[in-house]
Amino acid sequence: MQEYTYLKSKELLERACKVLAAGVSSEFRKYNHPHALFYSHGKGSRIYDVDGNEYIDFTLSQGPLILGHSHPALLGDIANYSEMGQLYAGQHIQEVELAEALNRLIPCAELMRFCLDGSEAVQTALRVARSKTGRQLFLRFEGHYHGWLDNVAYGLGHPQGESMGERNDPQVFPWSAGLADNSRREFIIIPWNDEKLLEQTIVKYKDDLAAVITEPVMCNNGCIMPRPGYLEKMRGLTRQFDIAFIMDEVITGFRMGLSGAQGYFGVEPDMAIFAKAMGSGYPISAIVGKKSWMDEIATGRVIHAGTMNASNPTVAAALSTIRILESDAHVYERIFRLGLKLKEGLIVLNKTYGQNMLVQGPGPMLNTSFTDLKEVYEFRDVLQADKRKLGVFVAKLHDRGIRIIGRGLWYISAATTDSDVEAALVAVGEVLKEMKTS
Ligand SMILES: Cc1ncc(COP(=O)(O)O)c(C=O)c1O
Repeated sequence: MQEYTYLKSKELLERACKVLAAGVSSEFRKYNHPHALFYSHGKGSRIYDVDGNEYIDFTLSQGPLILGHSHPALLGDIANYSEMGQLYAGQHIQEVELAEALNRLIPCAELMRFCLDGSEAVQTALRVARSKTGRQLFLRFEGHYHGWLDNVAYGLGHPQGESMGERNDPQVFPWSAGLADNSRREFIIIPWNDEKLLEQTIVKYKDDLAAVITEPVMCNNGCIMPRPGYLEKMRGLTRQFDIAFIMDEVITGFRMGLSGAQGYFGVEPDMAIFAKAMGSGYPISAIVGKKSWMDEIATGRVIHAGTMNASNPTVAAALSTIRILESDAHVYERIFRLGLKLKEGLIVLNKTYGQNMLVQGPGPMLNTSFTDLKEVYEFRDVLQADKRKLGVFVAKLHDRGIRIIGRGLWYISAATTDSDVEAALVAVGEVLKEMKTS
C-alpha cells in the first residue's frame, strides 16, 4: 500500500497560518485529514496534493465539480469567452443564453438573476419574499444549511449535553460567535420531515410568514430524502397562505438532473437557488422563480446588485457545464447507477464486517454515518451518530487515496468511473475490517 504522508502540506500550512487566518480561506477547509491540505492539480475524478498523493475525489470540492476536475472543453470555453473581456458592468450575450437555458430546464425558472454564491442568492430570495408578502419571518429546518450569513447560521450544531428542546419550540444554538442578535428574530425553526408539525407551525405563524425555505433533500446532514408527500404538503400549505416556497437547490441543482430536485420530485417552488454544480467550480449562482415573485426585482422594488455578478468566465462556465451535460444523453443515468453501485457495495461491506454504518441518499450524493438507527429522517436523528467513529473512517479512507467529505458525504461526478467506485469499495472493506479488529 502506498504510504500517504503530508509533510509538504504541513510546511505550507505553517507558512500560511502566518498570513491567512488558520491558513485557509473557508472554515470547512480546516477539517481535512490530518490538517488543512494543499493541492497541486486535479484531473477527471482525481485530485493530487503537494506531497504527490493521489485521491479519487468524492468531495468534488464540496459539490461543484459535476464534470470532475479540469474538464478540457469547459476550460476551453471559459478561456475563449474570457479572452474577449472579463467584466463589463453591463450585459453580454452569454448571460442571456444562460438565462434562456435555465428557463428551458428548470420548472420554476420564469425569471432570474445571477449572483456569486449560494449564500447571497438565498438572502435575495428572502428579500423578495418579504417584499411581496409584506411579512417578516421565514420558516426553516434544523440541520438545513443555507449559507454562512447571520439569519441562517443557527440550528446547525448542538453543544454537547444540551437539549434540543421541544419539537415545536426548539432550542436554537448559534453556529458562530458575532451573529447579530436581531437575526435570531428573523426565523422560526422546526425539525424537518414532520408533516403534522409543519402544518401546525405554518397555521400558527401564517400571518407573519414571508417564506418557507428548505433543502429538497437534506444533503448537509445525513443526505435525507423527504418523506413521501412532505414537499407536496409544503407546496400546498405555502400556496394556501400565500407564503413563498423557496427550494434551496444549491446541492441538488444539476446533481439530481438538469431540472434539479424540483424536476426529480415534480414539486414546483415559487423560487429556487442554484449554485455549486451550476458553475463547475466558478463563482456563479442564480435565484430563479415564478414571474409573480421575481417581478419584485424586475420592477426595482427589491434591489439586487453586485459588482462581480455574471462575469464572462463564470457565465461561460455555467453555460459550458450545461452544454456538456446535455451532450451526454446518459450522464445522469450513469451518475445514479454509479451512486447506487457504491451504496449497495457499502451496505454489503457493512454487513460483512458487522459494523453499524448507515448509508443513505439517492445516489448522486450519499452519506455514511455510524449509528444504530435503521434510517435517519431529520437532524435530531443525525445527532445521535458516532462522530468519532466517522472521523476514523474518513481518515483511514483518506490514507488510502479515497477522499470524502468529513461529515460522511460522497458525491459522484460525470467523470467518476466504475473502477473508481470499485477501488473505493476495496478501500472501505479494508477500513471496516481494520476498525472491527482494532
Ligand atoms: C444547501 C445549501 N445552500 C446554500 C449554501 C451556501 O452556498 P455557498 O457556499 O455557495 O455560499 C450551501 C453551501 O454548502 C448549501 O449546501
